[in-house]
Amino acid sequence: MARKARSNDASPKTETLPEPDFPNTGIARPEAIPGEDDRDQALRPKRLSEFLGQQAMKDNLQVFIHAAKERGESLDHLFLIGPPGLGKTTLAKVVANELETGFVQTSAPALDKPKDLVGLLTNLKKGDVFFIDEIHRLKPAIEELLYIAMEDYELDWIVGQGPMARTLRIPIQPFTLVGATTKAGVVSSPLISRFGITCRFSFYVQEDMEAIVHRSAGLLGVKIKPDAASLLAKSSRGTPRVVNRLLRRMRDFAQFAATGSKASTAISLNVVRDGLDRLEIDSLGLEKQDRDILRMIIERYKGGPVGAETLAISVGESVETLEDYYEPFLIQVGLLQRTPRGRMVTSFAYGHLGLKPPTRDTGNGEGFLF
Ligand SMILES: Nc1ncnc2c1ncn2[C@@H]1O[C@H](COP(=O)(O)OP(=O)(O)OP(=O)(O)O)[C@@H](O)[C@H]1O
Ligand SMILES: [Mg+2]
Repeated sequence: MARKARSNDASPKTETLPEPDFPNTGIARPEAIPGEDDRDQALRPKRLSEFLGQQAMKDNLQVFIHAAKERGESLDHLFLIGPPGLGKTTLAKVVANELETGFVQTSAPALDKPKDLVGLLTNLKKGDVFFIDEIHRLKPAIEELLYIAMEDYELDWIVGQGPMARTLRIPIQPFTLVGATTKAGVVSSPLISRFGITCRFSFYVQEDMEAIVHRSAGLLGVKIKPDAASLLAKSSRGTPRVVNRLLRRMRDFAQFAATGSKASTAISLNVVRDGLDRLEIDSLGLEKQDRDILRMIIERYKGGPVGAETLAISVGESVETLEDYYEPFLIQVGLLQRTPRGRMVTSFAYGHLGLKPPTRDTGNGEGFLF
């Protein structure tokens, strides 16, 4: 974990935080594939009105943005928490657009030395939105600099060395820090406490996912039937990035199916059904590896409980990958449970895989299910 890699001595020079290790190959994985975000520019909502779903969070933000603008002040610092691909970066830009301010973007691993942060902060204009992605990976020296900048809009800058060293306080323009993380659990509490507004993203509900499919299809200039959009939305793990990616693939399949014939290139229910089949994505948006994890627990560990480490070795993944990238969605849809004794599949998982849940004997002759 990023936190564990930190050291207390102030020599950030040699400290490199480990890259997260997760598989990037799966088409239904929520993490961005390199280069994908650039291609997605056209699909990114620019204003709050285009940002679909997350209604309660959006309603609150609208009020805070309006109030800050009316007072002519910068918006309070904003903390965005949520799994990959749900729209944290998108929302940060939307906030800057709504505030009609500049937008300066960086990510914690890119801030190597304090001077990297100082350079960015001293160039901010009044009210700008300063976005730090993966904020859980900040180095301690940089994090401390940020505390003062967030609180007092000043920077502590040490000049000279040894007994001659002096601290200069450099004023900077008031700004809004937007920090995003997929791992709120490893962000330090002094940092969290300096954010005035916290937005927690949840997986998108079916209705919002369908609206996103229709919006994206419109922007890509591709026709999609309502029943096809509905299935695509259902199979995309409640994640806009995944649905946009699958929509592009379905567009390819529809185009391929229509090649040489007069058939329409519109995406039909059959195209989506066949397409998902070819990509080995099932109706819940699970990929082969997700199903293999569930099968492993059922077949080798009788449905669980099984410890995370044992399970990770059995399926050939690291514990971190298992915990951060496979389990959250399996738990979210109710296929897996984390219990103090280990991981257990639910009866829903048996049903989803077409298997019969075991009937356990209670000893009094009455079998029971789980
Ligand atoms: N509310 C939304 N409405 C429509 N499209 C959305 C919405 N949120 C996200 N998207 C689309 O999903 C894609 C992924 O969003 P984004 O890059 O903002 O996710 P993220 O939370 O920053 O992910 P990561 O944690 O990997 O950085 C964007 O390209 C955007 O087109
Ligand atoms: Mg992002």
